[in-house]
Amino acid sequence: MIRPLIAGNWKMNKVPTEAATWLGDLKEKLKQTDAGHADILLCVPATHLGAMVAAQGFLALGGQDMSQHESGAYTGEISAAMLKDAGASYVIVGHSERREYHKEDDALLNAKVKKALEHNLIPILCVGESEAQRDAGKAKDVVIAQLKADLEGISFASADDLVIAYEPIWAIGTGKTATADDAQEMCAAIRQTLAELYPDQASRIRILYGGSMKPSNAQELLSKADINGGLIGGASLKTDDLLALVAAAK
Ligand code: 13P
Repeated sequence: MIRPLIAGNWKMNKVPTEAATWLGDLKEKLKQTDAGHADILLCVPATHLGAMVAAQGFLALGGQDMSQHESGAYTGEISAAMLKDAGASYVIVGHSERREYHKEDDALLNAKVKKALEHNLIPILCVGESEAQRDAGKAKDVVIAQLKADLEGISFASADDLVIAYEPIWAIGTGKTATADDAQEMCAAIRQTLAELYPDQASRIRILYGGSMKPSNAQELLSKADINGGLIGGASLKTDDLLALVAAAK
């Protein structure tokens, strides 16, 4: 049994002072909630980490992107060491919004995954197909190719050192969700590929579903054998919704 991971991706939302207030509210509500069965993670803008670091006792923090470089003259970039030192233990790599708007390709993402692991940050590697790719019957090929390219030459010590998020692009922020059966089918294919790459660890690597996950559909998605949690955008911005998602993971 894999311990579920309920991971919020706040994207570019809230300011640090709001984040601190939000966290206080969450902490109070957590006292009245049975949440011991799941890990909770918030991937927030790097500017918010300082205001949220006090939360480390009851949830984990993560970044949303990082540089593939160690340090130096890269204006505007944030390094793995900076995220780690600011309190992050995870980092999202290869979100479709980075692949699309910032033209991040698999070679770059492979370098980012390597750099994250060097700094003991757990990469949450995102993969997923577009609507056109799904309609053309190519969804599985696209996702497996991303996975293999992004993980090329990468090894790690423990199954806990890597998280995969399956996020069909057409389901992100659209209100459209993959059916639980379609999401399971893809997550099973992802695990099959992981088994080829990491035979000793694949059965314990966490695979998340992301794309319009919300309290009304989470339980069905999270009941599937190869869906070990969620990467949640919009619904992670509200404490009540986030806690409902945690409850759905039981
Ligand atoms: P939504 O939950 O808002 O669809 O976003 C999903 C996502 O992109 C998480 O990384």
